[in-house]
Amino acid sequence: MKQQYKLYTAENHEVWSILFNKQMVNLKGRANAAYMEGIELAGFEPDRIPKFSEVNERLAKLTGWSIYEVPGIVADDHFFELLAEKKFPATTWIRKMSELEYLEEPDMFHDVFGHVPLLVNQPYVDFLQGISRIALKHIKNPWAVELMSRLYWFTIEFGLIKEQNHTEIYGAGILSSIGESVYSLESPLPARKPFDIQAIFDSPYIKEKFQVEYYIIDSFEQLYHSIDAIEVQLEVALAKVER
Ligand SMILES: [Fe+2]
Repeated sequence: MKQQYKLYTAENHEVWSILFNKQMVNLKGRANAAYMEGIELAGFEPDRIPKFSEVNERLAKLTGWSIYEVPGIVADDHFFELLAEKKFPATTWIRKMSELEYLEEPDMFHDVFGHVPLLVNQPYVDFLQGISRIALKHIKNPWAVELMSRLYWFTIEFGLIKEQNHTEIYGAGILSSIGESVYSLESPLPARKPFDIQAIFDSPYIKEKFQVEYYIIDSFEQLYHSIDAIEVQLEVALAKVER
């Protein structure tokens, strides 16, 4: 399942270009600086779909991670296995021009534009690998997988980060969404809470709608340093169910 770069049509590249340019304006002052820097370091360009082989060369030098092509949504066990091996699963297809605003499942604009730039950030990828190892240890236990998926969801997909006095976006689900990148920071509707492992374990997540709550981290180092606590709190949560 390799990226067949020559098969992308002019429309495919144009869709990338429209979404990329829109989001780069939209994310100014909203996305975290580490993400914006990652866009540069990954070598993304405004008018063409990134070539995974080129991006992977850059990532290899920076953190040793790579994009790993998958046909679509990946089963939990395979998903966490790939992440534990520093491979980020990404689809190669991009939405049609008629689907710019709405998508049934994540395409490469989400997977690549949303996720790949932060794969250059060491504490971030170490966190990603750390939680994937924990998930893999308990992969036969559906409740453990659910709790670790909540953690992934409220950090990697929908996380916010405090930068000096204001809040910024680092979650890929927000970064790749034109509507949610404004809503997550500026709407009075959702709750914005400090990062808290237990609170996240207690929060089922909703798909296909904007979130009703977001968790704010102080730094990517905070995420990385929480790995041991996550493992301990997961064991406690699992023991409660067994009792
Ligand atoms: Fe995602």
